[in-house]
Amino acid sequence: MNKVKIRKAVFPVAGLGTRFLPATKASPKEMMPIVDKPLIQYAVEEAVQAGIRDMIFVTGRTKRAIEDHFDKAYELECELVARNKTEMLEFVRNLLPKSINCIYIRQSDALGLGHAVLCAKSVIGDEAFAVLLADDLIESEVPVMKQMTQVFEKYRLTVLGTQEVPRAETASYGIVKSAPIIGRIDRIESIVEKPLPADAPSTLAVVGRYILTPRIFRHLENASPGAGGEIQLTDGIASLLAEESALAYHYQGKRFDCGSKLGYLQATVEFGLRHPEIGRDFSNYLAGLKVP
Ligand code: G1P
Repeated sequence: MNKVKIRKAVFPVAGLGTRFLPATKASPKEMMPIVDKPLIQYAVEEAVQAGIRDMIFVTGRTKRAIEDHFDKAYELECELVARNKTEMLEFVRNLLPKSINCIYIRQSDALGLGHAVLCAKSVIGDEAFAVLLADDLIESEVPVMKQMTQVFEKYRLTVLGTQEVPRAETASYGIVKSAPIIGRIDRIESIVEKPLPADAPSTLAVVGRYILTPRIFRHLENASPGAGGEIQLTDGIASLLAEESALAYHYQGKRFDCGSKLGYLQATVEFGLRHPEIGRDFSNYLAGLKVP
């Protein structure tokens, strides 16, 4: 592992999105919009803002819309040219800076998050990389992945984005036991996937932001199916801890769990209220709404 800068990000997007059926029957959950931008685009923009250039999507069946979203849209562009919609044309043409590479890998079997990350091994090679789960939409002054790359550049260790959660919710997360180092940074002592509240070693949860050293691949290759019968990224990290240290980073920002209906609606309302075009009207609408 020679490089210090994080240049590559993995976006595991092969999940079935069962919590949003039937909306996700034929289209990817990552393409669900918060107001007017799909979840996956928020995650990719966060990676771009952290200086990452290679976006590696681990996709599956019914996920073609993600590839199309980040590709040139000939018919749409022709129509917009014909209708003289210059502003909109520039908008769809410049979704991402030209310097960004989008790389797609298929995960044919839904064997879990750890397996999805392992699918990116040959593209990552021997350097540390980021993983972003688009379900976790995080609003912050400094993008969370940028906060985390700064921590990585200083310590050169695995960094997991973490936040405190209510004890009743530990079974939805990877949970870490950690000891403070300085400020927002802890050293991870142990990590366990989705423990029941009574068994959880703490209430510090991993959110969908990771910086991983390439050694993780060997641990994922050797991992047996864990929670839910899947190859869990958490189990790979737990095994990595025997070999090298890892950090928990209490990120600065507000997270919306867009993998749940409630979190998705909360994000929609808050982003809607702040939207430059419709924010004011939406706010007036909500103010006049009679809540039953
Ligand atoms: C995944 C991880 C879990 C992590 C969570 C964050 O779970 O397995 O460790 O805490 O993302 O959102 P999932 O939400 O995909 O079940």
